[in-house]
Amino acid sequence: MKNTFQKNILCIGAGYVGGPTMAMIAYKCPQYKITVVDINHERIAQWNSSKLPVYEPGLDEIVKATRGKNLFFDTDIDKGIKESDIIFVGVNTPTKTFGAGAGMAADLQYWEKTARQIREAAESPKIVVEKCTIPVKTALAMERILTSKDNHISFEVISNPEFLAEGTAMEDLEFPDRVLIGSRETESGIKARNAIVEIYKNWVPKERIIESNIWSSELSKLVANAFLAQRISSINAISALCEKTDANVGEVSKAIGMDSRLGSKFLNASIGFGGSCFKKDILNLAYLCKTYGLDEVADYWESVVKINEYQKERFVLNMLNSMFNTLAGKRICLLGFAFKADTGDTRETPALSIAKRLVEEKAELVITDPKALSNAMIDLDGVNGITYEPDPYRAAAGCDALAVMTEWKLYAELDYDRIYNTMAKPAFVFDGRNILDHKGLHKIGFNVFPIGSPPLTHY
Ligand code: NAD
Ligand code: UGA
Repeated sequence: MKNTFQKNILCIGAGYVGGPTMAMIAYKCPQYKITVVDINHERIAQWNSSKLPVYEPGLDEIVKATRGKNLFFDTDIDKGIKESDIIFVGVNTPTKTFGAGAGMAADLQYWEKTARQIREAAESPKIVVEKCTIPVKTALAMERILTSKDNHISFEVISNPEFLAEGTAMEDLEFPDRVLIGSRETESGIKARNAIVEIYKNWVPKERIIESNIWSSELSKLVANAFLAQRISSINAISALCEKTDANVGEVSKAIGMDSRLGSKFLNASIGFGGSCFKKDILNLAYLCKTYGLDEVADYWESVVKINEYQKERFVLNMLNSMFNTLAGKRICLLGFAFKADTGDTRETPALSIAKRLVEEKAELVITDPKALSNAMIDLDGVNGITYEPDPYRAAAGCDALAVMTEWKLYAELDYDRIYNTMAKPAFVFDGRNILDHKGLHKIGFNVFPIGSPPLTHY
């Protein structure tokens, strides 16, 4: 059958970014053929099934509307490379766990393998788009790899970082604050940049499409995540001071957030930020600074991660101190395990480190979560003393304490009278996300420990 599509677009990497991003492009641009490939064949099979590998509100509907029409999930990467004009690369870029820069630098092996594969399989010019988050100057390395074989094929590397947040990915993709597209400022670089602008112009207002030099674009992605995480660590640091001074961190957040210069978002105190990117991207930024001899700048950004670790440990110690300095044999129900609401993703979830610490204190855990229980079981495989229970009422029954790990709306709406009656006494609530009605819970009989405001106790 003749291919009547205007453009053939490939995405290498069918993860949390590749899948949803390409589904949105396919949905908004029926004139393009979009193929998503991955080395993980099981993942591709899931994308082709009725149970997608990623849970995102609105994603199922968009995949259903486009799959088999202009959106395809496939395992033949070479064929995809040969047939495409534009190749997005959305592979993972985790923190390096070995060798120089271990624990801080980005592990670029997946990106590099992809670049080599593109070079080997390509038979015509390609625009290669960095969709994943990489250190500034990665495009230079990619250009060198792509052009290191004299096969007379031209490659142009473009930076188009993704800013979606999990749980709101489809909304973020449909109505982005901005789309950033960086290129070399050469004639061919600008031509390639325009080709990517053309794609987004199908649904993103032109004033929201920012064009920049390629290094600014690469760096902006790391900096955006660092600034977002820095706000959370700032408010979490203040939450510790609030607990010592009878101030209320929610009131402080509101008061400072109404300053239009600061804004109100990302000022919710919590058990700490999680997710696959904040920690890795800040450490990557700090590593880059160190590489350029900017040690003070590196220390500044690293402190954002240190406060995050401190906040998780502080939460555990607060539980321990409040429950009479022993958790041994006590049954604790973790309400939520995902790193945030509306996702089943548990990568770097604060609930994992907290769960492990509580088990170290010899507590017995019951974990509940509407979407993340299967990932929780994988993350905690081999750890004894943990039960997994999808029903929050059954999970809480017989427990000494509830600890809110994830801000799922359903946890704010539970019948806490009913729960209280089934729990051991005295019953405790540690609200790691400040989503519950603390006064109401106290009235029921709970001893309530919010983040960043005085506890409400009966003793
Ligand atoms: P992910 O792990 O969910 O997906 C990456 C996919 O790439 C995996 O399915 C993996 O099998 C595949 N892959 C790895 N090497 C490959 C290769 N050589 N050929 C083909 N496929 C290969 O990761 P993700 O969460 O989608 O993140 C991808 C990138 O996007 C990262 O750089 C991340 O920092 C960035 N990012 C993530 C988010 C997010 O919310 N998850 C948001 C913005 C940016
Ligand atoms: C984050 C960024 O928001 C995205 O713009 C970016 O594209 C993405 O990282 C990435 O590069 O991977 P994500 O990690 O999916 O998105 O989710 P966020 O909403 O940023 O939440 C991150 C963590 O911070 C969660 O654990 C969340 O619960 C926590 N958080 C968030 C707080 O503790 N307080 C807040 O006020 C906001």
